[in-house]
Amino acid sequence: MIPRFAFSFLALSALCFAQPEKWFPRDQLMTTGVYYYPEAWPESQWERDIANIKKLGFEYIHVGEFAWAFMEPSEGRYQFDWLDRVIALAQKNGLKVVLCTPSATPPAWLSKNHPEILMINAEGIRMEHGGREQADWSSPAYRRYVERIVTQMAQRYGSDPIVWGWQLDNELSHYGQGFSYSPASQAKFREWVRRKYGTLDRLNADWGNSFWSQIYSSWDEVEMPNPRAVVAGPNPHAMLDLHRWFAAEAADYFRFQTNTLRRYVKDQWITTNYMAGYDMVDPSLSEKDFDIMTFTMYPVSGGLFRGELGFRMGDPASIAFTHDFLRNLGSGIEGPMELQPGQVNWAPVNPWPLPGVIRAWIMRAFAQGARIVCTYRYRQPLAGDELYHKTIVEPDGTALAPGGKEFVEAMANVRTLRGLYNSDAAEPADLAARRTGFLINFENRWDIDNHKQTFRWDTTGHWLKYYRVLKSMMAPVDVIGEEKDFSKYRFLVAPAYQLVDRKLIERFRDYAQNGGTLILTCRTGQKDRRGQLWETLWAEPIYDLIGAAVPRYDLLPEGRNGKVTAANKSYGWGAWGDILEPRPRTEVLAAYADQFYKGSAAAVRHKLGKGEVVYIGVDSLDGTLETDLLWSIYDKAGVKPARLPINFLVDWRDGFWVATNFADAPIPIPAPVSAKILIGQKMVPPGGVAVWQ
Ligand code: GAL
Repeated sequence: MIPRFAFSFLALSALCFAQPEKWFPRDQLMTTGVYYYPEAWPESQWERDIANIKKLGFEYIHVGEFAWAFMEPSEGRYQFDWLDRVIALAQKNGLKVVLCTPSATPPAWLSKNHPEILMINAEGIRMEHGGREQADWSSPAYRRYVERIVTQMAQRYGSDPIVWGWQLDNELSHYGQGFSYSPASQAKFREWVRRKYGTLDRLNADWGNSFWSQIYSSWDEVEMPNPRAVVAGPNPHAMLDLHRWFAAEAADYFRFQTNTLRRYVKDQWITTNYMAGYDMVDPSLSEKDFDIMTFTMYPVSGGLFRGELGFRMGDPASIAFTHDFLRNLGSGIEGPMELQPGQVNWAPVNPWPLPGVIRAWIMRAFAQGARIVCTYRYRQPLAGDELYHKTIVEPDGTALAPGGKEFVEAMANVRTLRGLYNSDAAEPADLAARRTGFLINFENRWDIDNHKQTFRWDTTGHWLKYYRVLKSMMAPVDVIGEEKDFSKYRFLVAPAYQLVDRKLIERFRDYAQNGGTLILTCRTGQKDRRGQLWETLWAEPIYDLIGAAVPRYDLLPEGRNGKVTAANKSYGWGAWGDILEPRPRTEVLAAYADQFYKGSAAAVRHKLGKGEVVYIGVDSLDGTLETDLLWSIYDKAGVKPARLPINFLVDWRDGFWVATNFADAPIPIPAPVSAKILIGQKMVPPGGVAVWQ
């Protein structure tokens, strides 16, 4: 299906994003750099380090992050000569520079003189100097000081030809401390709520404040809901708005920094490094403010994941998902700004990554179209909270660490591929036929996670269950939001889409009627956008769409699993089961095989116009039901889905096929005998890579 306005849209986006393309020429494929903290090392070592960074094959250094105390040692006394000398050394060695605004680490004098810049957590504890991300970005005083330091940097380096781009702050968040409940945040939240609702009557109605006598009769009674400060559960509608406000406030803070920079920055790009998987800051709210989208990626941090070796390789679905999400925002240029170079220090357990897998992560970024990669960091700190963190070189500052060797190898691989780049290569038709839109909205996640109904439910785990299947079918995936045109996609998956309105339901119906295959899953359509139930039968607004009623859902306690059968095969489930009542012409794809509703439908297919709506109401234990159902849906649609082993990912990019193996056993690449293998071998070992044409 061709989007109706495809041509004009492409022309427009090409215009808006002409610049980013210029900074990241396509034929360069992917540019790799490394974080360097000169302020932590004797100046006598800088030249040695920077020359070595270049020799290893890196193309830029990332500096300035966390260096506020060195740039402004006391209020108003700015000191940049050291940074000038670092940039001059980069130039001398043929490296570009990415500068970072130092706002994540305000200096001690600032916190001492203006304690109101510090965040206050849900327990009412004001954070102190000594960590990072302790500032409250709603604080006017903090913003004033940030504006000054960022202006100083922008004036000095905004037209420096060696400075390639900028990163703002660092993983904007308060890490485990959650929301800031400072007076400044309270005031801004109250103002946001007031603008949103206009009248207290509306606020009281939309927050359902008749429940438990929560009625407000004056705006100054409205506070940020605080789960740690209420007895029994916080108001879920207020919690949803708190998330909306917090994400909007983070985006506003980014805009404030980009606007400050853009007053002086001429020909340099701007981004921030989002924490992948972090749900409180929504990158889609800033897609127009940033030239490129970047994120931080630490796949091995103690999680078990699938298989024997999963804990040494991470979950490839969550890595891949982040690329497919950020590539669909703004200019489309994305990549990991921090890619794990070895063992980390901050997880409950910090195992060694499997030898080879660091290179596989880099090549996975390549496979998914990343144009930029950076790693954290060049030298292992000898002091400080992160001294256990492995880096590119060993603590001596020169010997190449195992992760450094893998970076060197991957960068050589990318240079080889640059030599073979062909700008005319077009996406193979069989892949294009399977391209799938994957619809997400952070609001669903916020609302569901506030009201899970069962601890067995895992929202992002549910998303990834479906995403993983799509990758195993070698379906290219675009993770998109509601502002995108659905008609571009032959398939649209919208998992656990809890909050809907009538307009979205109509868009879904039009999409299917015009020939699309819409795949919806459990929990969809239960509430309106306020997070309130419909005054109808349970989730009734979607009944016509899915061709079935959802009279009830069931949840099973830990240790008790139910059974579902589909095409004579049996599957286990436990977290969520929508019990469906299909209408006469709706086909049953799966049915419950036990419990008091034995025989009831668990998944259905409803033909609608030229297309269809599939509703999968049950969340299986291990994703096998979802795998079999999706495979047969894609197969029936005639798009010849692949059947790759889970965790063996294969993508096509710029004329190259790339396979990365995050499974336990060696796996052969799905390539014809005539394929020319450029990197690796036909049999890809765990943690291995192959590239062919
Ligand atoms: C990231 C963070 C970096 C560094 C790194 C260590 O999450 O952005 O500043 O702390 O972790 O692994």
